[in-house]
Amino acid sequence: MNVLFLSPGFPNEMCFFSEGLANVGAKVYGVGEAPVGTLPARTREALTAYLQVPSLWDEEGTVEQVRHEIAAAGLRIDRVETLWEPLVVLAAKLREALGVPGMSVARVLPFRDKELMKRKVDEAGVRTPHHVGCRSQDEIREAAERVEYPLIVKPIAGAGSADTYRVDDAAQLEEIIAAVAHVEEVSVEEFIEGEEFTFDAICIEGHPVFVNLSLYRPRPLVQRTVQWVSPQTVALRDVHAPELASGYAMGLAVLKALDMGSGFTHMEWFRKPDGEAVFCEIGARVAGARSIDIMNFATDMDLFTGWAEAVCHGSFSQPVTRRHNAAIIFKRAEGEGRIQSIHGLSSVLSRFGSHVVSVDLLPIGAHRRNWKSTLLSDGHVILRHPDLATCLAMADAVGTDLRMGAA
Ligand SMILES: Nc1ncnc2c1ncn2[C@@H]1O[C@H](COP(=O)(O)OP(=O)(O)O)[C@@H](O)[C@H]1O
Ligand SMILES: [Mg+2]
Repeated sequence: MNVLFLSPGFPNEMCFFSEGLANVGAKVYGVGEAPVGTLPARTREALTAYLQVPSLWDEEGTVEQVRHEIAAAGLRIDRVETLWEPLVVLAAKLREALGVPGMSVARVLPFRDKELMKRKVDEAGVRTPHHVGCRSQDEIREAAERVEYPLIVKPIAGAGSADTYRVDDAAQLEEIIAAVAHVEEVSVEEFIEGEEFTFDAICIEGHPVFVNLSLYRPRPLVQRTVQWVSPQTVALRDVHAPELASGYAMGLAVLKALDMGSGFTHMEWFRKPDGEAVFCEIGARVAGARSIDIMNFATDMDLFTGWAEAVCHGSFSQPVTRRHNAAIIFKRAEGEGRIQSIHGLSSVLSRFGSHVVSVDLLPIGAHRRNWKSTLLSDGHVILRHPDLATCLAMADAVGTDLRMGAA
């Protein structure tokens, strides 16, 4: 089994997926922009060979170069995989160019274009926010009249809540129109009040063999606009809880509507105060920002290898165990510049003991990360507990009692 794996060393978790592929017996051929010497050691050990390309954003050039190198080496590629959102279409183009089975360009596009996505989901009778795709300022104004306030303006191919705004009235709309002037196409959407969850799945030919539901606290748009919060994502132990049933059923319906193939998928959905589930978005890749870590900690499974087995062999042999709720809490230092102090860590560790399973904070002296461009912020703590209320209380305590200072 020869697998072409795009960007095997970035983002950080890709080195473990590279290992997963090697664990299930695949020969892993990495393709990326980074020089081989700068790849994480674990990636390098998992790879059979690596091709460095000038730019992964140049899709046609990359396809040509890969096709040429594969032919020159006399190789037959069996799978083309990526788990990083910007490369999902490139992976599909490579499958088509190399005659490899898996999702084609036509099948992955609805996972990238949020208007196309919602139209397909609408056709399947799944509830989406009322939405209009807009390519000009006048179209945004007209759409706002149809959708009504409050509304959301967001790029049709966004990520990480970038260029995403809540708009409450016509005056504010004019400000936002100016702010999104550089975005080619946006969706104007009905603003959905409620809580936000994920539906993550490893699928074999569209059939989910592993499902995870996570809760975001607070909502991602708030995480990105309010610096002083410590954002949490919580992988939930009881994915079959009655209050989550509407979202779980929606996840299954959306996988069908979008003709999901094999691999990881990450969907987001809203639960309104009356319990109704509303679709938000879906990607044909794993969730980012260490979400895979909390899924592994919640289940004591190795989902890196589980994913690899599913895509390479069409099987999933690990028993699905659900032992914990697992929360990741991202910390943001107070002040700008370099980290000067970390307070409250020993108290958190002594109070929560073995429930804390990972601590990864920037060290004293390190420069703060840009909290708007990466949810990873200045570090994180992961903890877990079988009881959800206890897990959430511990996560909130890490939010308030663990403090980092910068200057
Ligand atoms: N229709 C909506 N109603 C309320 N909030 C929304 C809506 N659409 C997006 N948001 C907020 O903006 C965030 C980012 O939007 P999303 O569609 O998930 O794009 P991204 O690809 O940037 O994650 C969501 O997590 C949510 O907090
Ligand atoms: Mg999102």
